[in-house]
Amino acid sequence: RKGKTPEEVVKKYLQKVKSPPEEDCTICMEPLGGPSGYKGPGVGPVSRAESVGRLAQCGHQYHFQCLVAMYNNGNKDGSLQCPTCKAIYGVKTGNQPAGKMEYHVIPHSLPGHPDCKTVRIIYNIPPGIQGPEHPNPGKPFTARGFPRHCYLPDSEKGRKVLRLLLVAWDRRLIFSVGTSSTTGESDTVIWNEVHHKTEFGSNLTGHGFPDPGHLDNVLEELRAQGITEDDGLME
Ligand code: APR
Ligand code: ZN
Repeated sequence: RKGKTPEEVVKKYLQKVKSPPEEDCTICMEPLGGPSGYKGPGVGPVSRAESVGRLAQCGHQYHFQCLVAMYNNGNKDGSLQCPTCKAIYGVKTGNQPAGKMEYHVIPHSLPGHPDCKTVRIIYNIPPGIQGPEHPNPGKPFTARGFPRHCYLPDSEKGRKVLRLLLVAWDRRLIFSVGTSSTTGESDTVIWNEVHHKTEFGSNLTGHGFPDPGHLDNVLEELRAQGITEDDGLME
């Protein structure tokens, strides 16, 4: 099966705009009525009719070429995210390196969740070489603090979060490769945008319990990655 070109992917999510509004494109900050301000490799001429497009679900408008440039800067997985409202078109995936996710129930309660046991998730990612989807392809990356242990209450909502985290793992969205904000180290495996609790009985780092809003926060962070309750049921 032949892959779609970046132009074809972007076009799939766009509706035609007959007359562009008198606004600036928020990707390049140039007027939508004029040409894209994006100049870079692979930017060819576009016909007048398709120079501006409207994203089909959220309605935000951009230069066609600006969206193609944005798509090319990402990991080119066939999905697109509106830079204004973060609406996701297609299925968003990340660049998490290969590894393993496991979980099991441990017969202890977390602070703040006295009525249930605990799910422990164990993530293991070995160091490796960066692929084309990473910041420095061909260069090694380190992996610190693995296996990383994380905790969820074994409640109905905790189980729901677990199901969605399994989906996030499959879509390579739990970790990424980059610079750790904790250690400053670059080219290393780091947590992506979904918060995990890595402390069991204490809360010395701020990544422990109790934290009454935690599960709802995680559900919101998963939603921002395009993962919702429906996903947990399908897989
Ligand atoms: N536990 C859980 N989440 C953390 C931790 C931690 N100890 N430290 C940071 N985070 C969260 C941050 O709040 C931020 O949202 O991870 C996100 C990315 O932070 P980085 O410091 O860039 O991530 P990373 O280097 O992967 O994590 C630092 O987390 O699990 C530990 O062993 C790991 O000590 C390392 C620490
Ligand atoms: Zn633009």
